Amino acid sequence: MSIFSYQNGVLHAEQVSLAALAEHYGTPLYVYSRAALEQHFRAYTDALGDWPHLVCYAVKANSNIAVLNVLARQGAGFDIVSLGELERVLAAGGEPHKIVFSGVGKQAAEMARALDVGVYCFNVESEAELERLSSVAVQLGKTAHISLRVNPDVDAQTHPYISTGLKENKFGIDINDAPRVYAKAASLPGLVIKGVDCHIGSQLTEIRPFLDALERVLALVDNLAAQGISIEHLDLGGGLGVQYRDEQPASAGDYIAAVKARVGERRFKLIFEPGRSIAANAGVFLTRVEYLKLNEHKNFAIIDGAMNDLIRPALYSAWQDIRPLQQHSDAPRRSYDLVGPVCETGDFLGKNRELALAEGDVLAVMSAGAYGFVMASNYNTRGRAAEVMVDGAQHHLVRERESIASLFANETLLPSD
Ligand code: LLP
Repeated sequence: MSIFSYQNGVLHAEQVSLAALAEHYGTPLYVYSRAALEQHFRAYTDALGDWPHLVCYAVKANSNIAVLNVLARQGAGFDIVSLGELERVLAAGGEPHKIVFSGVGKQAAEMARALDVGVYCFNVESEAELERLSSVAVQLGKTAHISLRVNPDVDAQTHPYISTGLKENKFGIDINDAPRVYAKAASLPGLVIKGVDCHIGSQLTEIRPFLDALERVLALVDNLAAQGISIEHLDLGGGLGVQYRDEQPASAGDYIAAVKARVGERRFKLIFEPGRSIAANAGVFLTRVEYLKLNEHKNFAIIDGAMNDLIRPALYSAWQDIRPLQQHSDAPRRSYDLVGPVCETGDFLGKNRELALAEGDVLAVMSAGAYGFVMASNYNTRGRAAEVMVDGAQHHLVRERESIASLFANETLLPSD
């Protein structure tokens, strides 16, 4: 049975009716499936088999601690980009020695905490960061394991906002400059070189760009070996795409088989940092139709979910499927723009969708488990949605809906005159 399916005419997550969840918890609401998270994670580990590996789920994709905990119980490592993400992973029971720390702007205090808890590796993104990490490690009397995130100048052929492996992007160290920076790393105190890291972008549907990047990384590894620098692991980042509409992304199995075939005899430990391919199709966003507004040129369904809840359509013109929880036979089918209550023209979750709608209907925005809630804001003083995890026939509230009072609880008035 697929994870999200119609059963007796009602859309379910596993064995739980989404209509019942909308009633019980209210809308807007994020709903995740434990089984889907586990299945998507295991696609990586099954394909890696006994090859030395670490699958570090990219926390940024969905950082709810229940999600992290489900993956930690599967043995996942984690890819983090901030102190906040580090603390979430620890709170969720993630193991520090399976954490890789990415990101271009790591601060000294973040490095110190990561060294204290003993993360597996820092993915260093600049020479300046290398120097700072060395001095923080020396001050603490610790050793930092590092890899350099190299920028292989490969076109990931994805949306420009989520493409990261081109020379013009802010990420990583130019691969042509990497031998020199590795030599520097080898000379700095407090650092031990562990690997090479790259991440070229997100929502890649083809394997080709990954293999192009791998080719360049392997050439670098040979070059380093000639310099007397040996590497234990290759971190190939995240980026595998998912199906939102009619994309046909490579499967984790095919991708990993291709990587293994290319790496061949040299059994470097392989690290992956998948986010979207684990979380996106493990979640949906539920939103209720407040009003139907039928204008001469356009029909709008005004819904209670908005760009502050799910910004991907507004930010990247992303298309996500929108399905009714229950099919309405009596309402007329029309082409609707699904728009939220936020005061921005860009506030839409879908445009020109053929749907039979009535006020009060609940819709599911599919593939919303990654880069959904995590990118939510409080714009228009809207509290962020609640989050629920379904597990078989059970459901658990894993984040309460934000109360209005909490939205300005950290603000203060000026002293009275
Ligand atoms: N590793 C690094 C260093 C990353 O920057 C990212 C994502 C990942 C791993 C995980 O990539 P994934 O497997 O999820 O593609 N908000 C955008 C996506 C931004 C991705 C940022 N980096 C979206 O909603 O499409």
